[in-house]
Amino acid sequence: MTPMPALTIEGYVIVSADGMLAGADRVMPDALKFEGDKQFFSDALDRAALIVHGRHSFEDQPNFPRRKRIIVTRTIGTIAPDPSNPKAILWNPAGAPFEAACEHAGVGGGTVAIIGGPDVFGMFMDRYDTFWLSQAPQVRLPDGEPCFPGVPARSPQQILAAHGLKAGKAQILDAAADVSVTPWRRV
Ligand SMILES: NC(=O)c1ccc[n+]([C@@H]2O[C@H](COP(=O)([O-])OP(=O)(O)OC[C@H]3O[C@@H](n4cnc5c(N)ncnc54)[C@H](OP(=O)(O)O)[C@@H]3O)[C@@H](O)[C@H]2O)c1
Repeated sequence: MTPMPALTIEGYVIVSADGMLAGADRVMPDALKFEGDKQFFSDALDRAALIVHGRHSFEDQPNFPRRKRIIVTRTIGTIAPDPSNPKAILWNPAGAPFEAACEHAGVGGGTVAIIGGPDVFGMFMDRYDTFWLSQAPQVRLPDGEPCFPGVPARSPQQILAAHGLKAGKAQILDAAADVSVTPWRRV
């Protein structure tokens, strides 16, 4: 397999004060949707060469059809084209390495945006160059869906730190709701 130019791996999530990315119904609630964060996220995905997510974590944005993506699934053995989307590749991590899926997607370098859900975020914990953690401290989602494996026993910040990432300067995305995004960069 031809050596791949460097891929930069970046993660994106917005969580509640208690580390949840969705409610008890495993759906992202309106309480976690803020214009400032949506714009930050949409701009980031416009810059990405490739997006990676599990079956329920695609971004609901106008530019969705333009973006190359890898959908993580167990419905196939290794790698296959997505019959419903010519820009998407289906990938089963148990059957093939990530680099092979990238090659099938025709991505030879650039930024890869990992956008969830929890197991998919967990899969790349030791590969993130930067994890962009948005948090809405005024929102609580008891019985919600934890953003990473290991939450809520540990906070998202503790898990990122435990995987060799260090917090950078927070950027306010919504002052009224005190929503900010913090880049966690590999040390
Ligand atoms: N707040 C945020 O920023 C944010 C971010 C992302 C997601 N969300 C929300 O959180 C919810 C997450 O949904 P979800 O828990 O169902 O997660 P998901 O990762 O979107 O979907 C789970 C599905 O992805 C596939 N998958 C996941 N891990 C896999 C693995 N290790 N190997 C193979 N396939 C794997 C499986 O698909 P198959 O069933 O096809 O095998 C699995 O059923 C969504 O409702 C989404 O809206 C919120």
